[in-house]
Amino acid sequence: MSHDIQQQLKSLRGKLHEHNYRYYVLDEPVISDAEYDALFRKLQKLEIDHPEYVTPDSPTQRVGAAPLKEFAEIQHEIPMLSLDNAFSVEDVLAFNQRILDRLKTISSVAYVCEPKLDGLAVTLHYEKGILKNAATRGDGYTGEDVTENVRTIASVPLHLRGSDYPEVLEVRGEVYMPKKEFELLNKRAKEKNEKIFVNPRNAAAGSLRQLDSHITASRHLAIYCYATGVVKGKSMPDTQWEMLLALKSFGFPVSPEIKLVTNIDACLRYYDKIMHKRDTLPYEIDGVVYKVNDMHLQNKLGFVSRAPRWAVAHKFPAEEVSTIIEDIEFQVGRTGAITPVARLQPVFVGGVTISNATLHNIDEIERKDIYIGDTVIVRRAGDVIPEIVSSIKEKRPQTAKKIKLPKHCPVCHSHIEHIEGEAIARCTAGLFCPAQRKEAIKHFASRRAMDIEGLGDKIVDQFVDEKLVATIADLYELTLEQIANLERMAEKSANNLLQALEKSKKTTLPRFLLALGIREVGEATAKQLALHFGDLKALTAATEEDLQTISDVGPVVAKHIVAFFSEKKNIHVIEKLLAAGIHWEKIKKSASLPLSGKTYVLTGTLQSFTRDEAKEKIEALGAKVAGSVSAKTTAVIVGADAGSKLEKAKSLGVTIMNEKDFLKLFV
Ligand code: IVH
Repeated sequence: MSHDIQQQLKSLRGKLHEHNYRYYVLDEPVISDAEYDALFRKLQKLEIDHPEYVTPDSPTQRVGAAPLKEFAEIQHEIPMLSLDNAFSVEDVLAFNQRILDRLKTISSVAYVCEPKLDGLAVTLHYEKGILKNAATRGDGYTGEDVTENVRTIASVPLHLRGSDYPEVLEVRGEVYMPKKEFELLNKRAKEKNEKIFVNPRNAAAGSLRQLDSHITASRHLAIYCYATGVVKGKSMPDTQWEMLLALKSFGFPVSPEIKLVTNIDACLRYYDKIMHKRDTLPYEIDGVVYKVNDMHLQNKLGFVSRAPRWAVAHKFPAEEVSTIIEDIEFQVGRTGAITPVARLQPVFVGGVTISNATLHNIDEIERKDIYIGDTVIVRRAGDVIPEIVSSIKEKRPQTAKKIKLPKHCPVCHSHIEHIEGEAIARCTAGLFCPAQRKEAIKHFASRRAMDIEGLGDKIVDQFVDEKLVATIADLYELTLEQIANLERMAEKSANNLLQALEKSKKTTLPRFLLALGIREVGEATAKQLALHFGDLKALTAATEEDLQTISDVGPVVAKHIVAFFSEKKNIHVIEKLLAAGIHWEKIKKSASLPLSGKTYVLTGTLQSFTRDEAKEKIEALGAKVAGSVSAKTTAVIVGADAGSKLEKAKSLGVTIMNEKDFLKLFV
């Protein structure tokens, strides 16, 4: 009896699996959706009656996990890199020429052309043919564990077909939301007065990063695969084209638009063909990708910083449309900068409807000769903020109004200062201005600074408007009652926010320095300041000259830092923050690091690291990495195909290290 049931289960799963493959990979279904559903329900019923025989890779087991508290991190054994962009035919020809120059003996190169899907990259990890985990790209080195969510994507195989696959196989691809799904999702959101996603890419990212996989499942995401990561136990084919075919045979969806071509001219023809097809494709693409087909050549070509030399993304041109400027508003930023924002008659461009565009500063308005009421050309490329290209003067109505910089801040009515020769005008009220206050608090709470989860823009606005918070230090004095009294704030979220505030007290010195919002002090400078001074006290006592000995700090930044710490109010806020319990682990000052005071120069291609990785490693040990060789250089680290820097080092008698010597620095 039980044997019988197991046979039935196996046969049903096998059938569903096969139909899935025909539908998602081959795009050649042989049964109707209704027939598929009937088979699926039959399996579901049988599994409900016999839960002891449910297997994790059964087609019914795509959803079911309990919601997570947060995503775990997954390290990418092989980094997930990005692609260089080409925006013109010249860029593409130059890309091809660079390859020919590097490979010397060859007169033309075969490429695989692929559509560049506008979604988000994920990596899928299979062991013995079973999907073990899936992660987002993250920063390229560490991503988020989104296994439960990826399992809900119907076209992701839970187990692989056949038996020819490597024992360990990591496959990379783009998760996307089909255009139809995107429209449906936004239509429903509109009806329920919920947040509208600006484009399918954001919708896909938002859907994949849900802690509750049931929500992801309801969003009907899809995937196309285009690369491998770690492969063990058996090798994969040594061309991109055959690798893609192998992925297909294992059950991975691969774009039907891929094409193998023999030279770069054919790539350009492919680009034209796909551009014309773009609107009829069921998913959003923002260009095409050309990849050198032969992986031996790929390996010879290697990488520069974070992108391969053997591939390029040929982007479609930015879209342009015309619309009308209905009004200009002036926004006040964190440092008081006044930015004109154009309110536009809504237009659809580059896949989204836009109704605002920034104009950066008043000089730009003059230069572009823009009036309220003008018809203007608006451009949007990729994810960048829409830009006003020019005004069409012939269409300027009689009633058009010239735009003037206001004399007073639109928020606090203080004087606006516009220093001769400077592009940016500023509200002079500093933290007295509620707009600047709000921005300072939002910056303090942001992810790369104090990372206070749940302290969103709307909540900050309310805190400031209700006068509950005047400075960043006041955040840590908020009570549960005060928070829960805010509009649209449930007691549970209020509690969560209190907890997040508590959690943020344990931080790092670089984060804290960034969070203070000192002008011109971004993440990199904050890190350097922390490393150089080791603690806050030494930094607050530093003079402009002291500060300028740091490589990242020039005279302007040094002035801003000294000005910040000589302001009594700022010191008072810092003291309050520390008294509230903000703390960090002591850091090793640069001087106590093993390579502090040394300067290295990198040249040529290293085998073990990309340039950026090598730089990071060296800096982590306290040394600097310089771009050119001088008598002060400690050593030049030489990889394959080193150029003039090696010659210069030789002529100056600077120490030369090969990759082996270099690696010894780290042991
Ligand atoms: S290959 C080392 N192929 O574009 C090369 N990427 O700008 C790794 N993308 O992070 C990427 N379609 O999210 C590759 N056919 C395609 C792609 C593609 C979309 C995305 C991917 C990647 C980004 C790089």
